[in-house]
Amino acid sequence: MAKQFYIEELKNFPKSVTDRVESPCFLVNEQLLKGNLEILASVRKRTGAKIFLALKAFAMHSTFPLIRRYLDGVCASGPIEAQLGYEKFRKEVHTYAPAYSDDDMDKVIRYSDTIIFNSIAQWKKYRGRIARSGRRIEIGLRVNPGYSEVETDLYNPAMPGSRLGMRPEDLKGEDLSGVDGLHFHALCEQNADTLVRVLGSFERHYGKYISRMRWVNFGGGHHITRKDYDVDLLVKTINDFKSRYWVEVHLEPGEAVALNTGVLVSTVLDVFSNKVNNAILDTSAEAHMPDVLAMPYQPNVIGAGKPGELKYTYRLGGLTCLAGDVIGDYSFAKPLKPGDRIIFLDMAHYSMVKTTTFNGIRHPSIALYNPKGRKVRIVRRFGYDDYKDRLS
Ligand SMILES: Cc1ncc(COP(=O)(O)O)c(C=O)c1O
Repeated sequence: MAKQFYIEELKNFPKSVTDRVESPCFLVNEQLLKGNLEILASVRKRTGAKIFLALKAFAMHSTFPLIRRYLDGVCASGPIEAQLGYEKFRKEVHTYAPAYSDDDMDKVIRYSDTIIFNSIAQWKKYRGRIARSGRRIEIGLRVNPGYSEVETDLYNPAMPGSRLGMRPEDLKGEDLSGVDGLHFHALCEQNADTLVRVLGSFERHYGKYISRMRWVNFGGGHHITRKDYDVDLLVKTINDFKSRYWVEVHLEPGEAVALNTGVLVSTVLDVFSNKVNNAILDTSAEAHMPDVLAMPYQPNVIGAGKPGELKYTYRLGGLTCLAGDVIGDYSFAKPLKPGDRIIFLDMAHYSMVKTTTFNGIRHPSIALYNPKGRKVRIVRRFGYDDYKDRLS
């Protein structure tokens, strides 16, 4: 019963802490982050694979001093993330973008150790400039492994017609001298058995090139820190691959680094009834948790059940003008009232980086919680200037 309503999460995010912290607020538990990093470090140790944090998923740089103790560097999606990795993470920076402009390339060269291209034309356009830069930069090519098991097209990099990654025919007849590695990314929140099948397809299509490379990057989407993830199968898959081809293996998980490490603390502002019971919160699906609408999915809330499961059912809605700014219908043991805290689980990855200031609603503060001593440190607070400075 308790599990169903996510009450067990109170040990990681005690009410005494979430009631006191300012609202709205992304609250990240340092101890849980460390737990995930220890799992990732064990994979690193057992395989010799390099693991990079995907900044697109988690870029809370006040935690980088902790993360850099466990991982090899970051993977960046372009010049701005590359600069953040270079300045704040200070280990390896591996950059991939679907395409680079001339201006992007100058910055990417300045901040990256590896640059991965999405087409032969882009590689040929920039390889001279990279060589002349005087920086030791490795080159990778992203290929489409031709297989994936991602059901939602929005999140499926290997869907038919995908713009992400080259096909075997794109490499045909090309002289790949100067290319150090191949990169594929075709997983999304998946277990190691899916990796095995994706890797099989990758090898069938690109096997003849692999031994000529120094590394192969298996991308992100590995849900390594999820409770039911088969770490032993991942380790075996990497070690078998390495012994077949004698190449380095790279992984670039994002979500797995911050999985289940943070919550979004929000507060009920008003409650009223219009066919359904509406509760308006000081947060927003549209502005603060956009994947709730894009995926779509319904995040779990501490102490809440599905509609009708507990005595009082409410539709939790956001502060923006968007009619569909609704997080979902939930039930509670007691009636909701203004001032009650609503704690959304698993909000540290993607939500925090994807937020907007749509409608000028207050951006959630960002806070770190250290369970030892129950200390909360507010890392960042946002206000009017943050909204204004983005727009002129
Ligand atoms: C190229 C690439 N690498 C890594 C990642 C990180 O994936 P995840 O956060 O699912 O591990 C993504 C996510 O979209 C990606 O596109």
